[in-house]
Amino acid sequence: MKVAIIGGGTMGEALAKAFSTIEGVEVAVAEVSLERRVRLQEQGIETYASGKEAIRGADVVIIAVKPRDVKAALDDLKELVKDKLIISVAAGVKIRYLESIIPEGRFIRTMPNIAAAVRAAITTITPSGKVSEEDVKLAQSLFNSLGSTILVEEALIDAVTGLSGSGPAYIFLAIEALAEGGVKMGIPFDKALQLASWVAFGAAKMVIDSKQDPSTLRRKVTTPAGTTIEGLLKLEEAGVRAAFIKAVEAASKRAYEISNELSG
Ligand SMILES: NC(=O)c1ccc[n+]([C@@H]2O[C@H](COP(=O)([O-])OP(=O)(O)OC[C@H]3O[C@@H](n4cnc5c(N)ncnc54)[C@H](OP(=O)(O)O)[C@@H]3O)[C@@H](O)[C@H]2O)c1
Repeated sequence: MKVAIIGGGTMGEALAKAFSTIEGVEVAVAEVSLERRVRLQEQGIETYASGKEAIRGADVVIIAVKPRDVKAALDDLKELVKDKLIISVAAGVKIRYLESIIPEGRFIRTMPNIAAAVRAAITTITPSGKVSEEDVKLAQSLFNSLGSTILVEEALIDAVTGLSGSGPAYIFLAIEALAEGGVKMGIPFDKALQLASWVAFGAAKMVIDSKQDPSTLRRKVTTPAGTTIEGLLKLEEAGVRAAFIKAVEAASKRAYEISNELSG
């Protein structure tokens, strides 16, 4: 199976690298910038200067250009993608907008996050009415190579953007703050950062692998009259839980505004 990726920037490159690891998948990238094409070629990725060349013989076309460039990219390929599954990763670009450019297009809207670069992204998958179950399975198998996938309805995508799209930044901040706590207590910053980042990684892995909810896991490490309950009390007093909830709420509202500016 051949997958053509239109746009070989940060996301396009991460997608190309991950998809190339799937057996039986051939990847071609269309990228306008020569510098980026060279960078991709150096990593063994087949590249083309134009989308029309890259999609020749492709079964799936991934739209990985900036949201403002989606219309031009699709207009250019309009006549050649009618028999292909088209998957957009463009943030804020609605299925309705994609279908206004190619009404007969078989579109799937996805929302990966920056952790695609280390193949630890969670990607949401939202099929349009024209795609088959097989198309959805295909999209899942492609994006599972970046980490994991979940199906969501389109009405939830702004909230997804506020949670998993912007979420890595919240966790970077939490890691940084934890490391500074270590520094306050005398640990050199590089060691404190190593400790804090493994804490975040390990805690996330425990939630994912054990399938237990975080409050159950938290109770397991909270010894009566021990150290952890002292730390947790300070976090609750500072309103950290409410701050995370409000962060997701505010980012989701902003995602809604941006999406409406972009694609009505
Ligand atoms: N980066 C992330 O973490 C992330 C997360 C979720 C979703 N996304 C989505 O992924 C998409 C790409 O984001 P990005 O960060 O990878 O952007 P990017 O680094 O700007 O990459 C897009 C690339 O596509 C090129 N391009 C534009 N039109 C083209 C065309 N018609 N044919 C071939 N190449 C074309 C651009 O060239 P020029 O710069 O010369 O125009 C640029 O090199 C966006 O829609 C974004 O919303 C990104």
